[in-house]
Amino acid sequence: MPPTLSQIGNQMSALTGVRAIMKDIIETLRANPDESFINLSAGNPVILPEVEQLWRDCTTQLLASPDYGEVVCRYGTSQGYQPLVDAIQKDFNQRYGLNLTDRQILITPGSQALYFLAANAFGGATETGRLKKIVLPLSPDYTGYGGICLTPEALKAYQPTLEIDETAHRFKYRPDFEQLHFDETTGCIIFSRPCNPTGNVLSKAEVKQIADLAAPFNIPVLIDSAYGPPYPSLNYTDIAPILGNNIVHCMSLSKAGLPGERVGIAIGDERIIQILEAFQTNVCIHSGRYGQAIAAQAIQSGALAEISVQVIRPYYQAKLALLQSTLDQHMPSTLPWFLHLGEGAIFAWLWLKELPISDWQLYQQLKRVGVIVVPGHSFFPGLSQDWPHKHQCLRISLTATDEEITIAMQRLVPVIEEVYRSNNA
Ligand SMILES: Cc1ncc(COP(=O)(O)O)c(C=O)c1O
Repeated sequence: MPPTLSQIGNQMSALTGVRAIMKDIIETLRANPDESFINLSAGNPVILPEVEQLWRDCTTQLLASPDYGEVVCRYGTSQGYQPLVDAIQKDFNQRYGLNLTDRQILITPGSQALYFLAANAFGGATETGRLKKIVLPLSPDYTGYGGICLTPEALKAYQPTLEIDETAHRFKYRPDFEQLHFDETTGCIIFSRPCNPTGNVLSKAEVKQIADLAAPFNIPVLIDSAYGPPYPSLNYTDIAPILGNNIVHCMSLSKAGLPGERVGIAIGDERIIQILEAFQTNVCIHSGRYGQAIAAQAIQSGALAEISVQVIRPYYQAKLALLQSTLDQHMPSTLPWFLHLGEGAIFAWLWLKELPISDWQLYQQLKRVGVIVVPGHSFFPGLSQDWPHKHQCLRISLTATDEEITIAMQRLVPVIEEVYRSNNA
């Protein structure tokens, strides 16, 4: 007999969002070992040889260094391994002309953990029983936000407005400032920039507007920069980190080749950082120090920022260009298909307006031609309203080879054509 679970136990042990779909994908791959699927569902970054070599070199240096014992044989502070904190402080101050102190930086075991800490420190029931919301100002957004709240009803997302270029078959989500509302019941705000799954990048003016609306209520604004500069720099438009009194700039080294080591970084007001640090002490004491130590070297030397711009960004940007040109070439211009503007991250986001079947059904049909993508509906955590758009999108990963991307797009086009055609027949 399995043990009886608490309410939180039930909730946290359930598979949420895209993880539930990943289970279906793994089962499909296992059940059909002889079929060769092109899997465009992956969020796992590609192992790029130059990036792997960087981490190998940093490891060799660490092994040879007198600090090795101190790094792996001892506990450290919850704030993070000091040489890493110092390296980030120095790098950000030099690169962006800032005046950060080392107390404004926190290292977490991956950035997913950081959002868990923030969501539950600032969101949920207050001492007086009032519900503080965790607001996602623009939906769709990162599916992982769906599982971070111990009080799930606290998560609230806002439907965006759409800017559509009918001729180019492109579109872009914008925050709907007419609807967006923060007040004393808002606990914190989170959004990814660049965005997983859409590749959207909120403009500096939009970010400032959100931060300004939140400031009078002292609401922390967490800008999830898992794909942003200076590492991994998976931005294809020119952006820089935005800092401010109520902004927490959040980073991850996962897309810079270190997902296995779990390194997340928060930079913000010391008072906010201290809350997150204390929460982290209670949850897990601190993040692993081996990953932090090699990250410290890669940041100190400038190699990580350099490889991000020289290797990581061009790799995914070229994949995106290939996917865009293949669809432009093969998709009939008469069909209402729209790719989100690719401003960053490692995915393409395809919207099929007035799709006659659901995204889940389309995902099943694509599996039959050997192509696996992610149906889009799981990228709307916290958006309770019934919006048909939620079932009209697909996330396509850019982690496949050029050949796979080309073939997959060529297979996808006739399936989509047939779906629209059979509905009009
Ligand atoms: C937008 C975004 N935020 C956060 C994460 C979590 O990253 P990690 O916990 O590996 O730092 C991911 C992972 O894919 C992501 O895409």
